[in-house]
Amino acid sequence: MQPFSGQKLDKIPAHVPPELVYEYDNARDARMLEDPHARMRSLILEAPPIFFSPCNGGMWFVTRKKAIVDITMNPEVYSNSFIAAAASGEHKDSQPGFMLLPIAVDPPQHTAYRAPLNQPLAAKSVAGLETAIRVMTNELIDKVLGAGRCDFFSEIAEPLPVTLFMKLAGMPTDRLAEFRHLATQATSSTVDAATREATFKRIAGILAEVIKSRQEKREDDLISRLLDANIQGRNPTFHEMLGYSITLFLGGLETVVNALGFGVRHLARDQELQAKLRADPSLLPGAIEELLRLHGIASTPRRLMRDEVCHGVQFKQGDMVLLLLPAANYDDAAFPNPEQFILGRTEQHMTFNTGPHRCVGLNLARLEMKVFYQEWLKRVPPFRLDPQAPPRFMGGFNLAITSLPLVWG
Ligand code: HEM
Repeated sequence: MQPFSGQKLDKIPAHVPPELVYEYDNARDARMLEDPHARMRSLILEAPPIFFSPCNGGMWFVTRKKAIVDITMNPEVYSNSFIAAAASGEHKDSQPGFMLLPIAVDPPQHTAYRAPLNQPLAAKSVAGLETAIRVMTNELIDKVLGAGRCDFFSEIAEPLPVTLFMKLAGMPTDRLAEFRHLATQATSSTVDAATREATFKRIAGILAEVIKSRQEKREDDLISRLLDANIQGRNPTFHEMLGYSITLFLGGLETVVNALGFGVRHLARDQELQAKLRADPSLLPGAIEELLRLHGIASTPRRLMRDEVCHGVQFKQGDMVLLLLPAANYDDAAFPNPEQFILGRTEQHMTFNTGPHRCVGLNLARLEMKVFYQEWLKRVPPFRLDPQAPPRFMGGFNLAITSLPLVWG
């Protein structure tokens, strides 16, 4: 499946009423590429709550929180089981093919596949990584602090989660440069399909080596724990281990990179908020949630298993729907004054989604962000966007920043 192939339908399917057609390309839309989250807000204001876009082979977009919650809570109708093909760049039936676990499995089997991740990624368990994250963050800050400027994306946001993943998975950090390069290629939408596929194979090859070595000798890491996990009375197969490792690698990478990138961009444009958080770091957890709401990253697809009417819209079996989580965070019905940064909101934002597939890595993501902001705000003087080099953005399943030059001092 090529979800963002650029191919536009010549003919709107018969079951789509004309008033629900709105042309929007989540990878190429010019307004999205100029300012991704401003575009999310404009979709709430300008487009029908559920609309059909003929771009990229034709798909539905759902932009309101209530409809997204209803869809994610009904996995019998709205399935994830095709996601492996989309995310790996390989067809589901092709060999070797990766089964992305647990994301590509629908309930009830999903529960058994997700269970082994719940405990190792619980808040208490990931707390053990706090010191390592602090050390990594400070090493990265050391490299840029004296220069009075940096490209936040490539020098800070990108290396941090890759290094952390390697630590979590128990991988030797002497392979950091190689692995970072692969991670960048795997998540970039600018590389061609063949390079992407070759990159996935190399990543899978490296992860396979780690799994094999842990099969021989367990260490104190997530791969070792997963090998001993109990999935309905048996341990995961090698193929399943690969599926878990690749999902964790992808799940924790581009998402955290961009959450940090968009959050820091927000602070670079709001000196008052920067000063407030510097003066009182206890405000950080609340501020991080509001930054995550304003800057949702991932949108997630579902496929219709049968004909279904959703909030008055007729879907047909086989239709694709993209749950536009970053837009749902700007839904007035769920978030009063959605464009404003308001500390202490109580409504749950949609950046980690809801339902059975709600992000299992959210505790780790929050910890990474909290430690990062604590150290960054403590050590880096008031920073702003480089007036000579505005940030650049990218779309696709994730809203992304590709360059974020900052200056300070
Ligand atoms: C700010 C950072 C992050 C964001 C915005 C994010 C977002 C999401 C979203 C929206 C989903 C739900 C997908 C769906 O419903 O189809 C998800 C699932 C998932 N995330 Fe995250 N994520 C983040 C960080 C992480 C991290 C650090 C990890 C790894 C430790 C991770 C691992 C996963 C996994 C394994 C799933 C699949 C869960 C399941 O299917 O039950 N994520 N994430």
